[in-house]
Amino acid sequence: TALVVAVDGPSGSGKSSVSRAAAAALGVAFLDTGAMYRAVTWAVLEAGVDLSDAEAVAAHVRTVPLVVGTDPQAPTVAAVVEGAEVDLTEAVRTARVTANVSAVAAVPAVRQDLVLRQRTLIEAACVAPEPGREPGIVAEGRDITTVVAPDADVRVLLTAEESVRLARRAQQDLGTADSEALAATRRGIVERDRVDSRTTAFTTAADGVVTVDSTALDFDGTVAAVLDVVER
Ligand code: CDP
Repeated sequence: TALVVAVDGPSGSGKSSVSRAAAAALGVAFLDTGAMYRAVTWAVLEAGVDLSDAEAVAAHVRTVPLVVGTDPQAPTVAAVVEGAEVDLTEAVRTARVTANVSAVAAVPAVRQDLVLRQRTLIEAACVAPEPGREPGIVAEGRDITTVVAPDADVRVLLTAEESVRLARRAQQDLGTADSEALAATRRGIVERDRVDSRTTAFTTAADGVVTVDSTALDFDGTVAAVLDVVER
């Protein structure tokens, strides 16, 4: 029997790194759905599609095959462009992609498309796990507990107070950068959360979803808290 763990949360809640560590500890696969939204955003930008034209955006996204690596030790994302696989694991983290991903993710037809692909990846990890891996997956994003996998065995909303999230994210993105760059990063995150919160309900736990607040926890403590929910 496979184990599906769904984790949602806002930027800087630690959901990616915590979900990866939890997946590794459980011996199952890991899926970063945000990386998929980022990869199709990269493709849309690369193709020069007008981002304000939702139909054109969705139509282009449909033509982009994604290749998603679900190893929690080294998750990857690639797209097939003109017949060749382009690794995007680094490219999806650029400021340009980050600044545009919310707009792409707000297009309903893009979401429908990616939700289906995400369900296929989750199903594959359950029925045909890679060698050496247990059947199952930890999938993280903003609508996994509610839309992608509402029937998951375990559903967690990872939260943290906004000031802590902003500080973590700025630290992650910039290391010890100057205060002006830090302030710009913070404004970017607040703006992305604002747009994202119109698209997905990632700030409040749906019925049956367990909230893990990481405000006062360090990384290991947060992973342990998520694994505790799985054990219940
Ligand atoms: O950088 P951060 O961890 O906050 O975000 P991410 O998980 O990489 O996701 C990037 C963007 O993808 C989000 O800001 C959302 O716009 C979108 N997203 C979404 O709409 N639904 C998901 N399940 C995951 C991500």
